Amino acid sequence: MKTQLYVYTGTGNSLRIARQLAMELKEATVEFMPSLSRSFTVDADRAGLVFPVHIWGVPFHVVQFVNHLQVKHGTHLFAVAVNAGQPAATLLQMQKLMSNQGFLLASGYSVVMPSNYTPWGGPGPIDRQQRLFRDAQEKVKEIADAVLLGERNEVERGPFWQNILFSWIYKLSFRKVSKMDEKFWVDDRCNGCGICLKVCPAKNINVINEKPVWLHHCEQCLACLQWCPQEAIQYGKNTVKYPRYHHPEVILKDMLDQATVNKARVHSSQE
Ligand SMILES: Cc1cc2nc3c(=O)[nH]c(=O)nc-3n(C[C@H](O)[C@H](O)[C@H](O)COP(=O)(O)O)c2cc1C
Ligand code: SF4
Ligand code: SF4
Repeated sequence: MKTQLYVYTGTGNSLRIARQLAMELKEATVEFMPSLSRSFTVDADRAGLVFPVHIWGVPFHVVQFVNHLQVKHGTHLFAVAVNAGQPAATLLQMQKLMSNQGFLLASGYSVVMPSNYTPWGGPGPIDRQQRLFRDAQEKVKEIADAVLLGERNEVERGPFWQNILFSWIYKLSFRKVSKMDEKFWVDDRCNGCGICLKVCPAKNINVINEKPVWLHHCEQCLACLQWCPQEAIQYGKNTVKYPRYHHPEVILKDMLDQATVNKARVHSSQE
């Protein structure tokens, strides 16, 4: 039975989880979720979406992907929301997005990894990160077992009060995400290398006079800030004092591949 995993990531946590899941599921392949502007057909017996939680909900890029998704009848659909401890109602939202498309989400799982939301602090001490990686690996095995058995489960969710309050904040902020890049700035360490432009999955950065310029269709994945080799990108006032993060098993080439897949998809759909 063929399983197709689609992943979206800013700092590699979701990619790492998708790859671990593919190993456990054996006959599975991992692809990056393309940026979609027209329908996208998945031909697999099982299809899983693996993505980070952004502002207590599904990231814009992933919403777009689901809204253009077509799957054949009987495909077993599942979702994995990778988060820093507050998935809130993200998987309920995913269930609803799927249902709007006429699909049934068989199950939705939460996996906790270190936080990449640097404006609110770093990913935590290394020993805590390693504990999270170990726990996540165990959770991935449980998810794989359930998927292989074709289980249908209630989607995982946060406490009731979080789901109400945080979903409301998600809804208020969703339309503003594209312009949240107004808070990015670059310090003196920038050498104009252009890596921020290359890793951006939304093609939201230009480099002009050897400095990045953000174009206001941001997805807030924070890849630019986290992968800048000079650590020169800042967001608001706080990021100066916090360390940068990406998953230790994920490399810059993976992020460039993600951005290229997206670019290739946009080009092919325009032809
Ligand atoms: C803009 C933004 C918002 C986030 N919001 C949440 C959140 O609401 N709840 C949570 O648990 N983690 C949140 N996080 C943390 C990420 O979900 C978490 O670190 C995830 O593992 C990152 O996955 P990635 O490396 O695949 O991008 C947020 C991260 C970003 C960049
Ligand atoms: S990746 Fe960093 S150093 Fe390179 S252009 Fe972007 S901000 Fe400057
Ligand atoms: S500009 Fe930065 S935060 Fe926004 S989508 Fe691109 S890489 Fe992600």
